[in-house]
Amino acid sequence: MTQVHPTTTNSGAPVASDAHSQSVGADGPIVLHDHYLVEKLAQFNRERVPERVVHAKGGGAFGTFTTTGDVSRYTRAALFQPGVETEMLARFSSVAGEHGSPDTWRDPRGFALKFYTSEGNYDLVGNNTPVFFLRDGIKFPDFIRSQKRLPGSNLRDNDMQWDFWSLSPESAHQVTWLMGDRGLPRSWRTMDGFGSHTYQWINAAGERFWVKYHFTTQQGIDNLTADEAAQLAGSDADHHIRDLFEHIADGDFPRWTLSVQVMPYEDAKTYRFNPFDLTKVWPHADYPLIEVGVMELNRNPENYFAQIEQATFAPSNFVPGIATSPDKMLLARIFSYADAHRYRVGTNHAQLPVNAPQSAVHSYSKDGAARYHFNAPEVPVYAPNSVGGPAADPARAAESAGWEADGELVRSAATLHPEDDDWGQAGTLYREVFDDAARARFLETITGHVGAVKSDVIRARAIQYWTNVDAGLGAALAAALQGEAPVENGEPATASTPVA
Ligand code: HEM
Repeated sequence: MTQVHPTTTNSGAPVASDAHSQSVGADGPIVLHDHYLVEKLAQFNRERVPERVVHAKGGGAFGTFTTTGDVSRYTRAALFQPGVETEMLARFSSVAGEHGSPDTWRDPRGFALKFYTSEGNYDLVGNNTPVFFLRDGIKFPDFIRSQKRLPGSNLRDNDMQWDFWSLSPESAHQVTWLMGDRGLPRSWRTMDGFGSHTYQWINAAGERFWVKYHFTTQQGIDNLTADEAAQLAGSDADHHIRDLFEHIADGDFPRWTLSVQVMPYEDAKTYRFNPFDLTKVWPHADYPLIEVGVMELNRNPENYFAQIEQATFAPSNFVPGIATSPDKMLLARIFSYADAHRYRVGTNHAQLPVNAPQSAVHSYSKDGAARYHFNAPEVPVYAPNSVGGPAADPARAAESAGWEADGELVRSAATLHPEDDDWGQAGTLYREVFDDAARARFLETITGHVGAVKSDVIRARAIQYWTNVDAGLGAALAAALQGEAPVENGEPATASTPVA
């Protein structure tokens, strides 16, 4: 028989009842000095932390990453050396919905990874799409607001979404992904993941390369139909959390193969489009996939709040051999996430077990709310010092994790490469990657979405947007919308609401 422990207060003293407050007589008023009642109510009031400002709904699991290939000529990162196994955490999510929103709404899916490497934590915070809606982080807050709720009605709104998208032509490639079949993955196990940005790898000799990460599902791609997604949103809002949890509990561990595309450092200067533009993919014919290893998720969290809600993934968490690139979106994200974590979880979030590195920490950071770890009293609190405190290593500066940059301070985007356009790759995805049936479903989906736009001006702009992607598609959309009245009542189609 399992031993039943006596209930205690948070400070460890035994308590007499979890059912009765102290009162003046059995039916009399309760008393303020029932500090156990006060502790229970006060703790309850503080159980929530702010939800993530985006990607609030999600789930995750722990696992291992095993490097099976040999990419040591491109990166000296310890986790990517042949044969190395690294413990890791993955969190999948949808973007625009709130913490309790249905898992099956149409949306990109987050694919956030934390590798507990021998040289510190490496976080790769990607999506299930290789591109994004924007190429400058200054537009991100506006974009997200257009996808969330109207301030007055608190409803999501197609006019807002298509107003923003049609005024932001760089969104076309990602919106084409989103409205296609992959906007509704059947489960997190059956979708691919991407680092999306171009990152920098540095090898042991200090040579630099540009890389893109691709995680290919070994379960095979599988998507929901719009009808299935709509039905599941009502009948099982946590469908993706349940699917992941149950497969891992049953020992059916999902796996992904990691491959990278590698671009030699100098190629970036003359490539046919800006290789740091997050709205573009690099054709595999130019830069083929090179296999790196396998990620397996094999351990469910024991406590979702402590291990998933409080998990903090930051694109600024790099390790030696991996660094940023000139991608303006990535550079903005490098500020944004650590700032969000200080606000959402607290200044000492990196000390929580799920976020703490498994390698040694010798930091001069000290104090702050809820500090848990501290240095031994003889370790000095300042640097430089002459009493044996941790010393930064100047040799690290020679690792060349940078690139050449020069120029006036400006607010503009140079189009230096011949194919720096907004529409080309979206058109290629529609014409060459989708088959006939996928194109038909795509037209049906965008017809539903644009059909729910009330403003004639925005509708016309949305039709022009798809005409720019593909003239035939624009004409087909215009014909499908002809004479159709805007949706007045009921749930309008939103980026997160599947439309049959
Ligand atoms: C979450 C900002 C673009 C993927 C977040 C969070 C913020 C944020 C503040 C919440 C972090 C937290 O509270 O823990 C931004 C900004 C962006 C941007 C400012 C553009 C400049 C992107 C892009 C991707 C992405 C391009 C994917 C390629 C994610 C994911 C999460 C997330 C997966 C959830 C991480 C988790 O599971 O904890 N983003 N984001 N974001 N973002 Fe972004």
